[in-house]
Amino acid sequence: MSTSIVKDDINLVDQISSSRMIPNRGRPVYLAHLSDIHVTADCAWTKKDLFSKRFTGWINLKIFGRGFRFRKTNEILGALMMDIKAHQLDSIVFSGDATALGFEEEMAKAAELLGLNRPDALPGLAVPGNHDYQTASCVAQNHFENHFSHWQQGERIGNHTYPFAQKVGDIWVVAVNSSTPNRLPWDARGCVGGDQLQRLGMLFEKLDNSRRILVTHYPVRIASGKKERKIRALRDLESLLKVSTKGKVSLWLHGHRHDQFYHPTSQDVPFPVLCAGSATQNGKWSYSRYSIENCKLGVECRVFKPETGLFEKAESFTLDLPYSY
Ligand SMILES: [Fe+2]
Ligand SMILES: [Fe+2]
Repeated sequence: MSTSIVKDDINLVDQISSSRMIPNRGRPVYLAHLSDIHVTADCAWTKKDLFSKRFTGWINLKIFGRGFRFRKTNEILGALMMDIKAHQLDSIVFSGDATALGFEEEMAKAAELLGLNRPDALPGLAVPGNHDYQTASCVAQNHFENHFSHWQQGERIGNHTYPFAQKVGDIWVVAVNSSTPNRLPWDARGCVGGDQLQRLGMLFEKLDNSRRILVTHYPVRIASGKKERKIRALRDLESLLKVSTKGKVSLWLHGHRHDQFYHPTSQDVPFPVLCAGSATQNGKWSYSRYSIENCKLGVECRVFKPETGLFEKAESFTLDLPYSY
């Protein structure tokens, strides 16, 4: 995981044992953060799809190598779920891009590969990515929300789907939808929207005084620390940062970028921001395990090793979180 901070390797995460789902009063909260799995499936195309962003997405997938880069997705997700289940866990955070083209068939397959339809489905929280919101029609039909409903339970404002908040141990994990359907093929921007921002402010007011973690698909900064390019950026990032800062967010988790990286607290952003990277893209295939106790965040980066067919620890470090509770 790239950034400039010194690793102190205290390995809070190493304290994780093989027992799972223990009530967590007086012990760290354990999260697994995965993202950008981009599952593909045989899909029923309509004439309308040929004139939508889906068509250029398909060209990208079949001709420009995206499909090749995600050719082992099913196999890797099997190894990933096995790895997650082998360690202590309170909840999974999924930060979007479950699919390649936003088809319902892809959503269904992604949900199945993540075990969401099983009676022993793991607890979690999910937000959609821009690929899951590829067309206005798939957004209107709530394909993502229907297939990921198990990971969309929580406190919300009225009947609005987003934002919502889940209490995990003594921490609030807050889901914000930052994805929108965009018509133009080169437009990969996101937007939270004024109404959702207002509800987020209301939700923060409603939650009890516990640590808050924000989850979006879109990043705050790219790995180099620079702002995302305009055609890929979150349009109202500054407004979301303001509401989040006022709402005492102490950690922001996201996806969208396929490399694993993080930024510690800075002058511009008063909390650490972590990107899980793509769990299934060949050569990147990473996810993160977190342990949160008081003001310490333990991070363990897990990477798939093709030689063994297993996810293994790549590195670990700790970060300071603002606010004590
Ligand atoms: Fe992605
Ligand atoms: Fe994305």
